[in-house]
Amino acid sequence: MPSTQVFKGGVIHSLNPTTLEILDDATIVVTDGVITAVHKSSSEIPVNALPVDIVPQVLPRGDFLIPGFIDTHNHAPQWPMRSLGQGLHILDWLNTVTFPFEARFADAGYAAKTYEHTVDDFLRQGITTACYYGSRHAEATRILAEICHRKGQRAFIGKCNMDRNAPDYLCESNANESLRETQDCITHIRNLPGCAANVENALVKPILTPRFAICCTSELLSGLGEMLKRDESLAMQTHFNEAQQEIDATTQLFPDFQGSEADLYESFGLLNRRSVLAHCTIMTDYEKERIAALQCGVAHCPIANMTVGGGFMVAPVRDFLRRGIKVGLGTDSGGGWASQMLAVIRQAMIASNAREVLSAGQDKALSLEETFYLATLGGARVLSLEEHVGNFQVGKEFDALRIATTTGIHSAMAPTEESDSLKTMFEKFIMTGDDRNIAHVYVKGRQV
Ligand code: GUN
Ligand code: FE
Repeated sequence: MPSTQVFKGGVIHSLNPTTLEILDDATIVVTDGVITAVHKSSSEIPVNALPVDIVPQVLPRGDFLIPGFIDTHNHAPQWPMRSLGQGLHILDWLNTVTFPFEARFADAGYAAKTYEHTVDDFLRQGITTACYYGSRHAEATRILAEICHRKGQRAFIGKCNMDRNAPDYLCESNANESLRETQDCITHIRNLPGCAANVENALVKPILTPRFAICCTSELLSGLGEMLKRDESLAMQTHFNEAQQEIDATTQLFPDFQGSEADLYESFGLLNRRSVLAHCTIMTDYEKERIAALQCGVAHCPIANMTVGGGFMVAPVRDFLRRGIKVGLGTDSGGGWASQMLAVIRQAMIASNAREVLSAGQDKALSLEETFYLATLGGARVLSLEEHVGNFQVGKEFDALRIATTTGIHSAMAPTEESDSLKTMFEKFIMTGDDRNIAHVYVKGRQV
């Protein structure tokens, strides 16, 4: 027996980077987690189109559905240490704050307990898909994958690779060990129930995760590139042109590439349409051309970019969009202090305002429509999931948030008024709401 759900009420989703579809009185039919019909208004529904035996979930005025948020860059082991180490430049922050903290995840018991809270929090914040860095520990990473799978969060999970330039207590002993453990994690994730049958659209998927070139020997980067070449469905994530201190250190380690991280990672076979490049704040035109040509996606992390790492890095998002480069948003928890995608959306707007000023008006600031797109459909494109999630198209899976703006909610959100349109309520939620306004979170139709 297929299981069917019918939702009736306000719906807002992105059709493209600049267009929101705002439906006051829509009906969405979900069968076995897949959207099987979207009727734009009650008056449009053909006779007998709705299943007679299903009682629709009718959303009162003030409630509405939006697609789940997609977090394209997130360090699960850093969730408990978000915000610590403000004022440090990236390599100093890693050495003094982050590496000692990630070392705790050698303890599987600690990892299991901490990741329960981590995934719960991200789900509560409406993150229905997360692209996670794990720590370098294989067991902790497998545990993270199992927790996402059990709780029903759509996720990419990567065991972090780092076989040099890290303290002995955290560094992997050699490339071979790192590659072997990576392969074990991939196999484990693909063997989770339901994940093997459909590698393309499994709930939890593996992703290769070289921390960044500074922490990886050439041997390790080559080995990962080989794995990527052998496996069409495997994705890859890394930190890319994040801050000047990092770029200078990378150039010293790999002088042959004359400062081009695009050439560096490409030479190891690590750049393709499944590559997720976090940060991309300092980019030459040449590098933008390369990542556009190679169809890589950018995980824009505006909170981390403007706090930890280098102080005030403002990624050229408008230029990426102009060039057709895929862009999504990342919490970068814990370089970014927030687990809330709402905070990331707001910071993306602030960063884009700064960019407009810094570019003397050339890079126009992002609109609310655009930043919401980045947090949903844009992120889906970065993770090659746009056929499956990101908005409410028929045939996609129902990853959704039910937003409640009025009924007995106490949150930071600006109060709604009788005369507010759905668009106004949406705008108030995005700019001032919080997780208390996220009443239900659905992944593949399952309330999580
Ligand atoms: N570069 C390498 N590792 C990290 C990390 O954990 N966070 C950030 N923001 N940048 C990195
Ligand atoms: Fe990061």
